[in-house]
Amino acid sequence: MPKNSKPVRESKVIMTELVLPNDTNPLNNLMGGRLMHWMDIVSAIAAQRHSNRVVVTASVDNISFSQPIALGNVVTLEAKVTRAFHSSMEVHIVVTSENLNSGEKFESNRAFFTFVAVDQSGRPISIPEAVPETAEEKELYDGALRRRQLRLILGKRMKPEEANELKAIFKLEEEKVKK
Ligand SMILES: CC(C)(COP(=O)(O)OP(=O)(O)OC[C@H]1O[C@@H](n2cnc3c(N)ncnc32)[C@H](O)[C@@H]1OP(=O)(O)O)[C@@H](O)C(=O)NCCC(=O)NCCS
Repeated sequence: MPKNSKPVRESKVIMTELVLPNDTNPLNNLMGGRLMHWMDIVSAIAAQRHSNRVVVTASVDNISFSQPIALGNVVTLEAKVTRAFHSSMEVHIVVTSENLNSGEKFESNRAFFTFVAVDQSGRPISIPEAVPETAEEKELYDGALRRRQLRLILGKRMKPEEANELKAIFKLEEEKVKK
């Protein structure tokens, strides 16, 4: 492994929370904002574990809530860095919910958060590369560049014509349609 790099697996963080009354809405289901707070914390720890730096949240990709999570359920959040760029890194979070009485478990959502490592003055600072090892880690690593380009375009930090990775995908799709 190159000197300034670390395996993705070393950034892994698992956080377990119990849904308490103070976390819920009037329907006794977990509030979305509380879940997003936990997602921010678990992914920030993964980013700090990878970079050994102070990190700030730069962006959060869209999060959808497919099923409610009930009071008393256990929520497990698993986060891992997918890919590191210069000062920023993408973190993948998988959230599962478990009913301890019935044993039923379901995946509640997945999301990508981006963090930037900063120095004591809040200026971006370079970080080690993240090396994927498993097939899933490699797939997430490969997709990270196109997700980065998409979020930088949406954040008005990149011109669409500069997004080569995204353009290549659209070109491939165009060729498939023509065939
Ligand atoms: C994130 C932040 C440090 C970027 O600083 P900046 O001076 O704009 O820095 P740069 O333009 O050099 O970008 C630094 C990195 O951030 C990334 N970045 C900046 N905005 C981004 C966004 N909206 N989405 C994803 N990545 C972003 C850049 O791509 C770059 O990554 P790279 O170094 O890996 O190539 C700065 O905008 C900031 O401090 N934001 C507030 C963070 C915060 O307080 N979060 C909590 C909100 S309550």
